[in-house]
Amino acid sequence: MTPAPADQGRRRTAPLLPGGHAPWLGPVMGFRRDPVTLLRTGRERVGNAFRFPLLGQQVHFACGPDAHAAVFTADEAVLSPREAYRFMAPVFGPGVAYDAEPEAMAEQIGHLLPALGSRRLEAHARVMEEEAEAHVARWQEAGELDLLTELNRLTVAIATRCLIGDEFHRRMGPQLPDLYHDLESGIRLAGVLSPRVPLPAFRRRDRARAAIASAIAQVIAERRKATPEGSGGQRDMLATLLAARDTRGAPLPDEIVIGTLISMVFAGQHTSAVLAAWTGVLLLRHPEHLAAVREEQRAVLTGSGEATARALHRMQVLERCIREAERLHPPLVLLMRKAMRDLTLDGHRLEAGTLVMLSPAVAHRMPEVFRDPDRFDPSRYEAPRAEHRQPYSLIGFGGGKHRCVGTAFAYQQVKTVWSVLLRRVDLKTVRADHKPDYSTFVPAPVAPLSVRYRKLSRRALEQM
Ligand code: HEM
Repeated sequence: MTPAPADQGRRRTAPLLPGGHAPWLGPVMGFRRDPVTLLRTGRERVGNAFRFPLLGQQVHFACGPDAHAAVFTADEAVLSPREAYRFMAPVFGPGVAYDAEPEAMAEQIGHLLPALGSRRLEAHARVMEEEAEAHVARWQEAGELDLLTELNRLTVAIATRCLIGDEFHRRMGPQLPDLYHDLESGIRLAGVLSPRVPLPAFRRRDRARAAIASAIAQVIAERRKATPEGSGGQRDMLATLLAARDTRGAPLPDEIVIGTLISMVFAGQHTSAVLAAWTGVLLLRHPEHLAAVREEQRAVLTGSGEATARALHRMQVLERCIREAERLHPPLVLLMRKAMRDLTLDGHRLEAGTLVMLSPAVAHRMPEVFRDPDRFDPSRYEAPRAEHRQPYSLIGFGGGKHRCVGTAFAYQQVKTVWSVLLRRVDLKTVRADHKPDYSTFVPAPVAPLSVRYRKLSRRALEQM
């Protein structure tokens, strides 16, 4: 469903979000504090489409499978992700991802697909399990820890090794959680308007990017020296990009390889940590589902006990719990496009320049789409209900032409992490309730996510 050019007179603009906001500023304070509640209450009050100004920018919010379909399948010349995500350009670097022309971005994504395909996922599964096991092995026999910090460190190690490689991980290891955090904290509402204004967070972001880029450049030089095609005998994403050739048969420029790797870590590391954290919170809050997941671990991991990609694929109970975490707490709560000309979207007239906003967090709680939407109910994905089968209903990984290319990698990673954690430790949350921290772009549970843990002996595990 493609947005039609505006048939001016007959269509109307969506209703204005009520609330008496200042005409230029709009509901900026509420939006900064908690955009999801603002959009969710807006939908309850005026319906699935409404508009509001935000710091001088006209925003059109659209919600529901039909509107999502129209946005996700729209031509880039009509609804542009590139123009909407310009504020990320300082992280990606010039000419990379959304800073490239749509055809160039598609070509860049084409180059990295082999590193995320099913054969490579088998190799990634070994790294994921190795890191998760090593991580737990460093914990004492029992204690209390901040699970979000732990999951962040673990996904930093996994993303770094699978994407950029072991040499980079060895060299930069201890600094990486802070460097990635500085990159990620450089994405602020202020950046949506002007990513180059001199905020301290933006300076830290730029310093972190420069440090990561220079260390990757060093690894590239060393690999090129070691093997002419540059793979260095590795099976990470860097090796894939060094082996790639453009349409004229030339190797990709180093800045593109470096920018692509940084953008992949940026797209996939913290988002995976947050999805893993919510999966844990929901499992620990629902003992009956936790027991079913443990039972599945015993059934699937007979024999070598190794969490191979094939074994992970068979963990369908765990997968449904992760999907329910994706639905209730999608790591990316806002997806955006810029209207490049006047158009009609799902029956509403939009002017060129409008920022079109979708929200997985709001859409996933629509009672018309998901029955009893606030309830943790992984069985909603089982046939015949299969509520996620309705196209563009579950959009935690986007949809259409820009759907996330790292979905399988992310799911495999979260599965591996929880497969290992549940087999090695008994966990209990310290607090009963965990709310999302909407002050960041990737809302995790409000920190600290304290859990008490006790390592499990083989016998204790069998008795659980
Ligand atoms: C839980 C983890 C993840 C979540 C929730 C997530 C979510 C998303 C979403 C919602 C989009 C669509 C954005 C839009 O349409 O505006 C997207 C795109 C993308 N994601 Fe992910 N992602 C995750 C992990 C990953 C990983 C691990 C990688 C790579 C290693 C990755 C790479 C990408 C890329 C390259 C795109 C852009 C695709 C395109 O525009 O053609 N993501 N992701």
